[in-house]
Amino acid sequence: MKTLNTFYIRTYGCQMNELDSEIISTQLQMSNLKKVDDEVSADIIILNTCSIRDLSEKKVLGKLFEYKKDKKDKIIGVCGCMAMSQKETLLKKFPHLDFLLGTNNLLDINKILDDILTKNLQEKKIDLNYEIGLENFFAKRENKIKTSISIIRGCNNFCSYCIVPQTRGREVSRDPSSIVKEAKYLAREGIKEITLLGQNVNSYGLDKPEKKVLFPDLLYMLDKVDGIERIRFMTSHPKDITKDLMLAIRDLKKVCEFVHFPMQSGSNKILKAMRRTYTKEHYLEKVNLLKSIVPNATIGTDIIVGFPNETDEDFLETYKLFDEIKFDTAFIFAYSPRQNTLASRYEDNISNTLKQQRLQKLLKLYHKILETKYTKLIGTKKEVLAEKLSKDGKSLKGRTKTFEKVLFPAESKLIGSLQTVDIESFSHQTLKGSIPS
Ligand code: 5AD
Ligand code: SF4
Repeated sequence: MKTLNTFYIRTYGCQMNELDSEIISTQLQMSNLKKVDDEVSADIIILNTCSIRDLSEKKVLGKLFEYKKDKKDKIIGVCGCMAMSQKETLLKKFPHLDFLLGTNNLLDINKILDDILTKNLQEKKIDLNYEIGLENFFAKRENKIKTSISIIRGCNNFCSYCIVPQTRGREVSRDPSSIVKEAKYLAREGIKEITLLGQNVNSYGLDKPEKKVLFPDLLYMLDKVDGIERIRFMTSHPKDITKDLMLAIRDLKKVCEFVHFPMQSGSNKILKAMRRTYTKEHYLEKVNLLKSIVPNATIGTDIIVGFPNETDEDFLETYKLFDEIKFDTAFIFAYSPRQNTLASRYEDNISNTLKQQRLQKLLKLYHKILETKYTKLIGTKKEVLAEKLSKDGKSLKGRTKTFEKVLFPAESKLIGSLQTVDIESFSHQTLKGSIPS
């Protein structure tokens, strides 16, 4: 039987996938496999994939075609969202692919490799349900300063454009005691900042009413963990953002004043067709309530342009609302139809050219908003968590509590510490400053 010594893992997509890759890597390292940085020398190649847009999938398919020509005796596997969304077709389409491992089966990676070695057949392990063992399993983290913790997996929302409910199953909240235990473990490892991850962190605990721990309660529990300096969370569905959460952000010292709650569109017609279950008026109300409770809070959004039947007027409504709210962080996407979603039944009737024009218009507005905001920040002081050295090795990079990127000259020994930085200028969405002497 062939022996396996090394593996290479490539991650596509979101922070949840990054974390899942660390879980897979830790499993493999526990089986004495060594992680390598180049695919050429690896015995096993794992692609941890994303299905959110067509482009994400195309990148992976391109890689799989590449490996077809040059597989040698490597084992090649696909994990993550594409393993779920294309579970019926991938193994047939790519006979040189050895396995598929679903988003809820991360702890089965060693078993699947054993099966491949003994049976020499294509294997797949794909469950739509959350693997219970996963919550008692702490992955080793590569980043020693900040990392994420998964608190709820899956999504119950079924927004009409989104494939995630198919690739990650229904919402299952992790046991609060296991989350706190992991945060304490990470604090002992020297981690200073944690990001609580979930497709919709605000519905944390709703599926387990007997535990009586909802998302704000979890924040109160985590705020007490010694050694952790900052707590972030993402993503929040606007419909589930409560006043209790806003009060927790205001009252808890470590919880960062930044909320990523995607608006997606500013047109009620489009929001309805997207099945977002809120109107633009409701959305604006939540923004205003947040700003009244936490005046310095910054807000992040995702926007989809070119959803089926989006007229110029619909787009203009998005544009105007974007300008009114003045988002601090924005990810803007062109609509991409996904298989088996409700929206895929509508005709994708906005041309790519128009989607790109709308996307560029919003980007231009976004950059203008940032420029005005950053200009006002010059002359202020910001607390920054120093995360890593810049490329030239002369400065440190970090973020403010409200999520602005900051670059300042300092030595690497300050990495991991909180520093007060005088903001002096900015370029390319990064504030620049120095530590007062
Ligand atoms: N097309 C374009 N963007 C999408 N998103 C989700 N599904 C699609 C799709 N089919 C975006 C949404 C979501 C973010 C993670 O990706 O804006 O918030
Ligand atoms: Fe997708 Fe909507 Fe769930 Fe977010 S809330 S993961 S956009 S279905």
